[in-house]
Amino acid sequence: MWKKFGRTIVALAVILVLLVGVGGYGAWYNLVREVPTYYESAEDHFKYGSIGTENAEGVPYWVWLVLPRLFPEYLPGSGGYTSLGLTWEEGQETPIGISKKTIGFPRQGITCALCHHATVRDNPKDKPTTFVAAPANKFDAQSYLRFLFACANDPRFTSDYILEEIEAYNHAFSWFEKQLYRYVIIPQTKKTILELQQSYAWMDSQPNWGPGRIDPFNPGKFRFLNQPLDDTIGVSDMMPLWNERQHEGFAYHWDGLVTSLIEAVRIGAISDGATKKSVDIAGLDRVNQFIKELPPPKYPYAIESELAKQGGQIFANQCASCHAFGGERTGTVIPVEEVGADRHRIDMWTQAAADALNEFAEGYDWDFDTLRKTDGYVSVALDGLWLRAPYLHNGSVPSLQDLLEKPENRTQVFYRGYDVYDPQKVGFVSEGPDAERVGFKYDTSVTANGNQGHLYGTNLPTQDKQALIEYLKTL
Ligand code: HEC
Ligand code: HEC
Repeated sequence: MWKKFGRTIVALAVILVLLVGVGGYGAWYNLVREVPTYYESAEDHFKYGSIGTENAEGVPYWVWLVLPRLFPEYLPGSGGYTSLGLTWEEGQETPIGISKKTIGFPRQGITCALCHHATVRDNPKDKPTTFVAAPANKFDAQSYLRFLFACANDPRFTSDYILEEIEAYNHAFSWFEKQLYRYVIIPQTKKTILELQQSYAWMDSQPNWGPGRIDPFNPGKFRFLNQPLDDTIGVSDMMPLWNERQHEGFAYHWDGLVTSLIEAVRIGAISDGATKKSVDIAGLDRVNQFIKELPPPKYPYAIESELAKQGGQIFANQCASCHAFGGERTGTVIPVEEVGADRHRIDMWTQAAADALNEFAEGYDWDFDTLRKTDGYVSVALDGLWLRAPYLHNGSVPSLQDLLEKPENRTQVFYRGYDVYDPQKVGFVSEGPDAERVGFKYDTSVTANGNQGHLYGTNLPTQDKQALIEYLKTL
């Protein structure tokens, strides 16, 4: 997010330090000193550990913490950040997917888990169960960005207003720290968020993403790959990250734009705001190791094993060549004409952008080399499929039952972002008053939201479809 943040802040700090007559040590200590973070457990590291995004893009932690209390009117509901679909585990300083690291002062950053974890409930009254590495089903990245933008544009976003709230939170600053926040950190935060808003202005003329979806590559294309602005719409559904060892040799991302897992992992961090200098390569190696070994989550409801067995036969005949591990075409790019899905996501990525990303880290020992332009979608492995709804690259099909219908009979309008599960249709509850209250209205007639294509299995007799769905639950 904030490339110039570090530099400007140091320059301003030097001036401040001269003004207040305190030595350079104070400035170093309070602005650039890095305190490493370490989580013993690989899962906690995945959820909360730094991947190097705090440096350039991190909002000062204390400011970040009080924004929902100061500007609740810019949030979609009560509950602070959780109203944007973040999951806040009891006793943690930050929600899942948000890191806290001191670089001079405590800053927040984002981690892979922000978009790669989901929650599930059986009933609206239940406490949600969290599944790490699942495609996020509730997190609304666009509304999160717009919340930050709205705060920074509010005339009340001033040092006085924010400091008062931080202190009301029982955080005591030293005199020196307080001057830094008042004269340097808070004004600079405002400026940087406003600059960030400018760099995302293109988003406002495009359809809304809704929870569980982002436009993954247009931000990077325009911001650090220096590609000219265009009107492509790349919005896509989050993907799961488990069981990656078994995916070795596959193409990654919906369109298969990269063929190396470790490169895909590092691209995740760079897209999230880590810079070439700040990216935490060792931290990402841990993430890489974790997602390689993490098993896909088992379907938590009853499965009729006889029916599933019959379904396994149908799968072997109709689906396995593209989706089973070891299938002839599994993990490869299937031409878009053949699969027939909405093509907007593919058209967002260009050869020039692929070349620019291959060049991006030239000279670093973790350089990118395998970026490319394709013209289709990857026939993804279907492990942990039950937890990946809504389905297809743009998340346009709410359930497996829907996916086995012809496009004209699939649900045209539904609600995303509600985490109560529907074991009948196999997907999240996406219709009815509760889903409507919590969810985002997904309309398949909106540009890039099309639910066409992927006709496989749609001609099967009803009984066979039921058997196939039963089998798909076992994956
Ligand atoms: C802001 C949300 C977001 C964050 C944060 C994020 N990702 Fe992703 N990730 C996505 C989306 C969306 C996709 C699918 C994008 C596409 O191809 O259209 C994806 C796809 C991937 C894939 C491809 C998976 C496959 O099977 O093809 C990998 C690997 C990945 N992410 C790793 C990471 C790692 C590692 C991190 C942290 C360093 C990370 N991501 C952080 C949103 C995110
Ligand atoms: C010719 C190859 C091919 C065959 C055969 C095929 N698929 Fe697919 N499948 C794909 C491709 C490509 C995608 C990604 C399309 C997209 O995301 O728009 C996909 C996506 C899916 C998804 C969505 C995965 C997710 O995470 O959202 C499911 C579920 C699926 N297929 C099930 C099936 C079933 C069940 C069958 C058999 C009845 C089948 N497929 C047959 C190529 C195939």
